[in-house]
Amino acid sequence: MVTIRVNASIPYDITIDHGEDWLDRVPYFKCSSIWVITDETVDRLHGTAFRQRLETRQRPIVWSVVRPGDGSKSLTMIERLVTDGLTSHCDRDTLVIAFGGGMVGDLAGFLASVYMRGVRYIQVPTTILAHDSAVGGKVAVNHPLAKNAIGAFYQPAGVHYNVDRLETLTDRDVLSGLGELIKHAYLSRYVLGHSFEDDLFTALAQGPLEWEAWLVRGIEVKRRIVEADEREQGVRAWLNFGHTFGHALESVEAYRLTHGEAVLYGMVYAFLVGGDVTRAKALAGFLKQLAITPIVWQPFETYLEVMGHDKKNRSGRIRFVLLGEDVTVASVTTERLVKAYEQLKGWF
Ligand SMILES: NC(=O)c1ccc[n+]([C@@H]2O[C@H](COP(=O)([O-])OP(=O)(O)OC[C@H]3O[C@@H](n4cnc5c(N)ncnc54)[C@H](O)[C@@H]3O)[C@@H](O)[C@H]2O)c1
Ligand SMILES: [Zn+2]
Repeated sequence: MVTIRVNASIPYDITIDHGEDWLDRVPYFKCSSIWVITDETVDRLHGTAFRQRLETRQRPIVWSVVRPGDGSKSLTMIERLVTDGLTSHCDRDTLVIAFGGGMVGDLAGFLASVYMRGVRYIQVPTTILAHDSAVGGKVAVNHPLAKNAIGAFYQPAGVHYNVDRLETLTDRDVLSGLGELIKHAYLSRYVLGHSFEDDLFTALAQGPLEWEAWLVRGIEVKRRIVEADEREQGVRAWLNFGHTFGHALESVEAYRLTHGEAVLYGMVYAFLVGGDVTRAKALAGFLKQLAITPIVWQPFETYLEVMGHDKKNRSGRIRFVLLGEDVTVASVTTERLVKAYEQLKGWF
C-alpha cells in the first residue's frame, strides 16, 4: 500500500492498494451511519463486495444508486439524494462515501458539502480519471447552461483506491483516464523537478500499465499543485493545460468524446499554439494508434465561441496554459489559434 499525505487546509491521506485494508486503519467509521453514493454500473460490478466489506464496521448502511453518466450530476439529483438521506436518518455524524468515478465523486462531494451544512465524506475512486478528480476538493453539479457551474471547494477526509477495481473499466474509460495521467506527466518536470513523461510513453509502448505505480506519480503532481494553491488563485490554473480547446471540443461534440479524450486532443492543440510541433506530433502519433473517438470537425468559429467563455480569459482575450522553459498562462491571437486548428485538423 502507498500512502500520500495531502497537506490541504485540513490534511488527509490518499491510499493506493490492492484490496481494502485501509478500512481497518482509518478513524472515520466512528460515525452514526455510512451513506454510499454510487452509480448503477459500479454497483453491479463492485457493489456487493464493497458492501460486505463495509458491513464489518457494524454501522447502519444507506445505499443510494444513480444512473451512470454526467446527466446525474444535477441539482435535481441532489434533492433526490437529500430525500434518501433524510428518510434514512442520516445526520451530521454520517460518513458519505463517493464510490465511483469522477461523476459520483463530484456529486457525492457536493452533496456532502450541503447536507445539513456539511458532513464528512471520503472518496473511493473506481476510475483512472478519478486520480485527478478525487484529489483537490473541487466538487460540483452541472447546470443546464454550464458544466460544473454549481460547486464548492470541499476537501474529503480521505481518498482510498483499490486498483483491482480498474480491471473492469472499458478501453474507452481507460483512455479517458490516461488523458489526465499524460497531462500530469507533462506537468511533472515543472512541479516535481524531474519528468516522468519519457518513462510513461515508454511504458505505454510496452503494453498495459501497472496502474498502482502510475497513479501514485499522477497524484503526486496533483497533490503538489493543490497544496500550493488550494482555491485556484495561481498555479492551480496549470492543471488546465489542454483544457481550453479540450472543453470547447467536449461541448461542441455534445459530450460524444470523453473528458480525457477531449483533453488529449486539447494538449496536442496547446502544444501547437505554443509552437512545440515536436511534442504535438509525438502525442498526435500516439493518439492515432489508439482507438480515440474521431472529431467531427466544425468551422473554427464554433470552437472560438466556446473558448471565448473560458474562465482563464481576461479582457476578452483567450488565454492558454503553455509549456515551454516554464509554464505560462498567455493571451493568444486568433491568428495563432486558427493556424493551430488547421494543423490539428490536418492530422486527424
Ligand atoms: N473535481 C475535479 O477536480 C474533476 C476533475 C476532472 C473531472 N471531473 C469530473 O469527473 C467526471 C468524469 O470522471 P470519470 O471519467 O471517472 O467519469 P464517470 O464517473 O462518469 O465514469 C465513467 C464510466 O465508467 C463507469 N465505471 C466507473 N468505475 C468503473 C469500473 N471500475 N469498472 C467499470 N466501469 C466503471 C461509470 O459507470 C461510467 O459509466 C466528470 O463529471 C468531470 O466533470 C472532476
Ligand atoms: Zn480535466
